[in-house]
Amino acid sequence: MRQPQATVKTAALMAPPMRAFYLTLLVFMGLSGFGQMPIFKRYYIADLPGLGWLAQFYTTHYIHYLGAILFLVLAAYMAVDYVVLKRRSRKITITGWIRCILLGVVLVSGVFLVIRNLSGSNLSATFIILLDLSHLGSVMAFLLLSLYCLIFRKKWTTLN
Ligand code: HEM
Repeated sequence: MRQPQATVKTAALMAPPMRAFYLTLLVFMGLSGFGQMPIFKRYYIADLPGLGWLAQFYTTHYIHYLGAILFLVLAAYMAVDYVVLKRRSRKITITGWIRCILLGVVLVSGVFLVIRNLSGSNLSATFIILLDLSHLGSVMAFLLLSLYCLIFRKKWTTLN
């Protein structure tokens, strides 16, 4: 007999619209972040129709900032939702933990990079290099691991 809809347990942590929002955000964060390096103009990707904005520094810069606000809100929401509501019924997987840690480094280094960009900030040159390397390194590791998890269907959490 089919179970009523409300009692069906789902293994997905995010509802489909939230997941779509998260993946879209990730794409725009990646594009706007790498756009600041800047690689899209150099490798003629920005010459493709519709992708010219990737070569405009301030466009990618403000998209990255706006995306960062949304990303921080989403991460905070998911963390509180897990701790308050889902902790007892779900367990974070190994790949879930690694992604949490990498994302933590991305977010913390990102916040410090925003502080670095403020006029009047006087962070040391060594610390700034460390921030740049840790932001880029953790972003690359997170995106590659996310791709691996997407292909091999590794979930952030499993049901207890
Ligand atoms: C998954 C999310 C994110 C991705 C994929 C991403 C990606 C990137 C990449 C590839 C760069 C260029 C690195 C470089 O120039 O060496 C960058 C720079 C930067 N990111 Fe992110 N980032 C993410 C999240 C964040 C967050 C949450 C913040 C802020 C809270 C942030 C703030 C910055 C800042 C300030 C820069 C430097 C921009 C500049 O050159 O002035 N990022 N990001």
